[in-house]
Amino acid sequence: MKRDKILIIDFGSQYTMLIARRIRELNVYSVILSPFEENLIESVNADDVKGIILSGGPSSVYDESAPKIPIEIFNSGKPILGICYGLQLIAHLLGGKVSKSKKREYGYALFKVIRNSILFDGVERKFQVWMSHGDYVEKLPEDFVSTGKTESTPYASIENKKLKIYGTQFHPEVYHTKNGKKIIKNFIFKIAGAKRNWKITSFIDEKIREIRGVVKDKPCFLALSGGVDSSVLAFLLRKSIPENFYPIFVDTGLLKEKEKERVKRIFKDFKNLKIVEAKDDFLNALKGVKDPEEKRKIIGKVFFEVFEREAKSISKEKGEKIGFLAQGTLYPDLIESKSYKGPSSKIKTHHNVGGVPEKHPFILIEPFKELFKDEVRKIGKKLKVPDEIIKRHPFPGPGMAVRIIGEINEEKLEIIKKADLIVEEEIKKAKLYNKLWQVFPVLLPVKSVGVMGDTRTYENVIAIRAVKSVDGMTADWAKLPYFLLDKIARRIIGEIKGINRVVYDITSKPPSTIEWE
Ligand code: XMP
Repeated sequence: MKRDKILIIDFGSQYTMLIARRIRELNVYSVILSPFEENLIESVNADDVKGIILSGGPSSVYDESAPKIPIEIFNSGKPILGICYGLQLIAHLLGGKVSKSKKREYGYALFKVIRNSILFDGVERKFQVWMSHGDYVEKLPEDFVSTGKTESTPYASIENKKLKIYGTQFHPEVYHTKNGKKIIKNFIFKIAGAKRNWKITSFIDEKIREIRGVVKDKPCFLALSGGVDSSVLAFLLRKSIPENFYPIFVDTGLLKEKEKERVKRIFKDFKNLKIVEAKDDFLNALKGVKDPEEKRKIIGKVFFEVFEREAKSISKEKGEKIGFLAQGTLYPDLIESKSYKGPSSKIKTHHNVGGVPEKHPFILIEPFKELFKDEVRKIGKKLKVPDEIIKRHPFPGPGMAVRIIGEINEEKLEIIKKADLIVEEEIKKAKLYNKLWQVFPVLLPVKSVGVMGDTRTYENVIAIRAVKSVDGMTADWAKLPYFLLDKIARRIIGEIKGINRVVYDITSKPPSTIEWE
């Protein structure tokens, strides 16, 4: 199907995929390309490309290794919007001057529109924007004008209307920037003239065709966790290849209470569903391990061993050597696990990515790898996945292991699972579950003194983490009502042996991550 496209050239910003997503939310197809792509100019000149966005990035245009683009791109006649590093690159390559700021500008700034621009059509004249830069444009290239400024940045937005080249020093793609969506909309529709012809339903049809075309009659396995991503993928695979689809649920012992029963119930119509009990494998391998990255790696490794063993035995029964492995990998998993076509640095090893060893016998398919969670939820809705799953909070692959700080054992697992049940129950009762991205307890390896009755106690601490987020890449701590926190704390201490103190985590992401490990 022919559809309008916006190209995003990725200079390594953590927010690049957010740009793609904002555009897709507007029902316009978008793809991300690396500045090092061999056929970049050809891609830019393709008929269906209506506009180009140059993303932000951690480099300075003067760094020797700074990613650049060929100057011809500016002569392509396609509308261009440079964001942050993208704006600086425009200025630098077209003859302006970029300089180092005395102080890195990070966080909110008040932006003022100083000249009418299509980019700011229908937008207030003063609003909050999100900044994250060390360099700034000191001198504009010829024929460019400044359209907006902040207190410390004179050229916070620039343009050359004739060449249809625009730039913003701030990040319109992040939620913290007010009017960001409107600014992107102005660029996509009013400047680039794209049409709204990208839909989730067309994505589903395309993926079904792709999966059928690739998998053919080989077995296709999926590590079903009962979470949103793997469950939605299970429904998509059943629809695509009902006979050859084998979901495998591995009970790691690190899951939520009664998870296995839930999976059995929800996927009862999946005729090839296989349940594997592997708690002991995981607990043995994790004995004595405290380091979070090591825990993640071990869990990934053991998980894969168990999974591969099962898949091999199913393949053997079918007279096949081995087959495909479908993964519900999402974009945030990828970007935070490894550099995604750019130099953004590694933060955590995520189980479903880091866990697949370099050498494995499967052919991988990852139909969701460029999607965000809320897009997967939309797909789930279309595929009639039960709400009970679609509305579920994300649960990390390594499960409770990253919610028990330090070493894991059965006793601690029992504590954290009980606490998790209490937290979820109370949040649901207060009708707040669907308003939060995640809420969960964390068991700390810290003992503190307490008093119960007349007796001194010396027991562990549980922290409660509740966050609001749209995609897990940034998050605000949730301002839960005191009565609810009070109720949760009382229940945890009253019902769980070994805990005498409950604290509430009041940090956002960044600077913290959502999970504690
Ligand atoms: P962090 O802790 O990095 O988490 O801020 C961002 C989101 O990702 C989830 N998360 C994971 N999901 N495998 C997953 O599938 C993992 O290893 C993993 N670690 C964290 C986390 O719960 C949050 O929603």
